[in-house]
Formats: sequence, C-alpha cells, structure tokens
Amino acid sequence: ALISLRQLLDHAAENGYGLPAFNVNNMEQVQAIMQAAAAVDSPVILQGSAGARSYAGEPFLRHLILAAIEMYPQIPVCMHQDHGASPSICFRSIQSGFSSVMMDGSLGTDGKTPSSYEYNVETTAKVAELAHACGVSVEGELGCLGSLESGMAGEEDGHGAEGKLSHDQLLTDPDEAADFVSKTRVDALAIAIGTSHGAYKFTQKPTGKVLRIDRVKEIHARIPNVHLVMHGSSSVPEEWLEIINSYGGDMGQTYGVPVSEIVEGIKNGVRKVNIDTDLRMASTGAIRKYLAENKSNFDPRKFLKEATKGMSDICRNRYEAFGAAGQA
Ligand code: G3H
Ligand code: 13P
Ligand code: NA
Ligand code: ZN
Repeated sequence: ALISLRQLLDHAAENGYGLPAFNVNNMEQVQAIMQAAAAVDSPVILQGSAGARSYAGEPFLRHLILAAIEMYPQIPVCMHQDHGASPSICFRSIQSGFSSVMMDGSLGTDGKTPSSYEYNVETTAKVAELAHACGVSVEGELGCLGSLESGMAGEEDGHGAEGKLSHDQLLTDPDEAADFVSKTRVDALAIAIGTSHGAYKFTQKPTGKVLRIDRVKEIHARIPNVHLVMHGSSSVPEEWLEIINSYGGDMGQTYGVPVSEIVEGIKNGVRKVNIDTDLRMASTGAIRKYLAENKSNFDPRKFLKEATKGMSDICRNRYEAFGAAGQA
C-alpha cells in the first residue's frame, strides 16, 4: 500500500530502525528493491529524482512505482520525490500522486549555488503548507553535502554545490536546524555531516570514523520529532568496483560510507538513508561481467536479470543492516 514518509519514519523511530531510500529510474531497479524487501519483510521507500523523471518520463516513473505497490500489497511503499529544486517541481509531484516530496532549498533553482537561509526557509515552508494539506510528507535540507576534507561536493555530473564550500556550510548547525524546523514544519530533514553524493566520496579507505556522528546526536537532541536523513550514503562496494574494472570498466579508486557508520547514525536518530550509486555500480558491474562471459548473447533479459540480482543483494543487505527487515 502507498504510505506517506511521515507514517513510515514514525514507525521506524518508534522501533529504532532506519530505512534505505533507493533511487529508481527503471523497472529493474524497482523490481530489485521490491524483491529484496519482500524476501526480508521490509517497508520500502522508492525515490525518483528530477533526472529520473526526465529519463523515464513522469507517467512511466509513476506507473512503475504503482506496479510495485500492486504486485506487493503486503509491503508499505513510500513514493518519494528526491531533490526538488523548486516549489513548482514539488507541486507537480504532489499532483501526480507522490506521497512525499523533498524540497531541497539548500541550493538555488540551478541545483548548484548554495542559497541563503531565508530562501531555504521560504521555499520549504511554502511546499510544506501545500503538501500537508494534501497528506503528503516533506523532507527539507539544511547544510550542503560535500567532503569535509576538500570542501568539494563530490558529484562530477551535476548534483551538488559548485565550487569550494566552507566548513560552516558542510555541517548542519543544530540551533539553525531547530529554527528551520519550527519555521517550515518539515517531517524529515536532510543534514550535512560529512557525506557527499556520487561514487567519489573518500580517496583513502576509511579506517576510523568518517562521519560526524556527534553532530547527528546534537541535532537529534534539538529536533527529536523530525526524522533525520542522510544523503550520499552509498558504501561504494569494493567488490563491484573490482568487477567493473576487471570487465572493461575504468572507474577510479574510491571509497564510500561504511555500513557500520550508517548503523551508528541510525542509533542516533537517522531514519532515512539515501542510496543511488551502489545500485548503479551493481547493475553496471553485473552487465559488464555477463556480456564479457557470454559474448554470443543478444537477449537483454539475460543481462538485465543479472543486474537485478546484483542490485537486489545490496538492497537485502541494507534492509538487514539498518534493522528494517521484519518491520513491514
Ligand atoms: O542525489 C542524487 C541522486 O543520486 C539522483 O541522481 O539526478 O542523476 O538522478 P540523478
Ligand atoms: P549516493 O550517491 O551516495 O548513492 O547518494 C544518493 C542520494 O543521496 C540521493 O539523494
Ligand atoms: Na530525498
Ligand atoms: Zn541526495
């Protein structure tokens, strides 16, 4: 059944678990996520970005998610719009039936320039007022995602701030978070605590702590009733990187967020964990490997099935690690 983000995350908070929110663009991703959720009995968040909507087309994206809901009636599914760059984008999603929208006012409408705090409050509050009137949940974002080391947003293909960010911009301020929530009434808040979008998060293999969990604690203490969201939470699986590069790919050496650190975040109030890159890598790796080993094949179902399996294994692992398994 279709469910709002607020309902899903209230349940997660009451029961002390977190939910992965996977980005979807096509049928195989939706099936991989749903197969894994059904196997372990987990609730689901399917999220579509503006890029997903222009890739699949809004009716296809919506109907893919509706098909998942029809096929798995026992699983609660939230249909969430990821990174809305303006109120009008959010209103369009509300109109088309999404049960949750993210108004990302941390950046301007170009999705690149860090915006003013006042702009963020104004646009997010506007979306929340209308969304709540329709029973739709709202996620806001305060702080800019980027590497605490370099100050760079990380994503090379368009997502995230342009240019170097200051330490202040890279870490969400707890007092400001409290003010933001009281002015906007968001249900969930994406915070900046050291993650960044895309595959290139850390140049060295993380040994100690890479995230500012102390900051998660401080923010959670100030706004206990707002669900915290971690974007940029792919773990960039070393085994998939290796498969991609051994079957003709050429990705640079890179490391993601260890699952153990995400689990630490969940213990301290994180409820929604955004993951896109990991499934991209699993599907690319699985397809490269299948095609390299089966050179006479020209039936896309064969390699797409491998992609679905690779993605589904990751989904299952995250449902279990985050404590969402058994909670549907
Ligand atoms: O945060 C961004 C997500 O990874 C979606 O990426 O805009 O390329 O669909 P996209
Ligand atoms: P990753 O690039 O780490 O998968 O993050 C995805 C994300 O935050 C989508 O909003
Ligand atoms: Na989102
Ligand atoms: Zn994101």
